[in-house]
Amino acid sequence: MANEVPATRMISIRQMTKTLGTQQVLRGVDLEIERGETCVILGRSGCGKSVLLKHLIGLFQPTSGEVWVDGDEITKLRERQLGGIRKKVGMLFQGAALFDSMNVEENLAFPLREAGVKSEAEIRDRVAEALEMVDLAGEQKKMPEKLSGGMRKRVGLARTIVGRPACLLYDEPTTGLDPIASDSINHLIRRLQKRLQVTSVVVTHDMRTAFTTADRVAFLHEGRTYFHGTVDVLKKVADPIITDFIEGRSGDVS
Ligand SMILES: Nc1ncnc2c1ncn2[C@@H]1O[C@H](COP(=O)(O)OP(=O)(O)OP(=O)(O)O)[C@@H](O)[C@H]1O
Ligand SMILES: [Mg+2]
Repeated sequence: MANEVPATRMISIRQMTKTLGTQQVLRGVDLEIERGETCVILGRSGCGKSVLLKHLIGLFQPTSGEVWVDGDEITKLRERQLGGIRKKVGMLFQGAALFDSMNVEENLAFPLREAGVKSEAEIRDRVAEALEMVDLAGEQKKMPEKLSGGMRKRVGLARTIVGRPACLLYDEPTTGLDPIASDSINHLIRRLQKRLQVTSVVVTHDMRTAFTTADRVAFLHEGRTYFHGTVDVLKKVADPIITDFIEGRSGDVS
């Protein structure tokens, strides 16, 4: 196995490949993410962004390569050992994935009870604090069906941060939201980074999300990290594979 990672690094992906069925989805991804940094992952639909994210909490194991999270190489860990990683790394899934039969408070309390928090007072306080962070103070008793799409995302996010992870993964946090609700999520991602000093990985198609939240951007193309750098550098790149994506050009004419 290669050398360990420096202490300043939260995530290190090295020459990772992943074959699903007969399809080689990831063909050698390299990515380094520092502690406290927000890294935005861009790439065409189907290029493997969600698959990549799932490797960071051990929902997928790579076909080859290494995945380091907070100093541990996680690809060989067993399910039981992955529990520790999943406490450190919280994921906001593409559809927010709330329990529809539970109100907001019960949804947020669930991961705390799973993690063994016993004190009802502590659960109440931590739920209230997480809701306050996502601008939903006082919404404890609402049922998920009564929430708008933007509120559902924020409740999903509150449920992700209530366990105080060191690292947050967002899969398409603004998809399906109007521009104003998207803007509020973008600012929330920034605010949580500052308030909780979390490392964030944001998968998105939304260039506003990318430009508002990213410290650095990784662009995936044909299963590899095609570009990795700051937003300023990304905006100056003259490569049509990148500029067509940023400007939303398909190459079709009609
Ligand atoms: N569990 C799975 N089994 C088999 N193939 C899968 C599985 N999950 C994803 N794939 C395939 O891997 C490829 C990458 O999928 P992925 O969901 O990572 O794309 P994506 O970049 O997140 O796309 P989008 O932007 O549309 O969300 C796709 O071809 C998909 O069909
Ligand atoms: Mg996806």
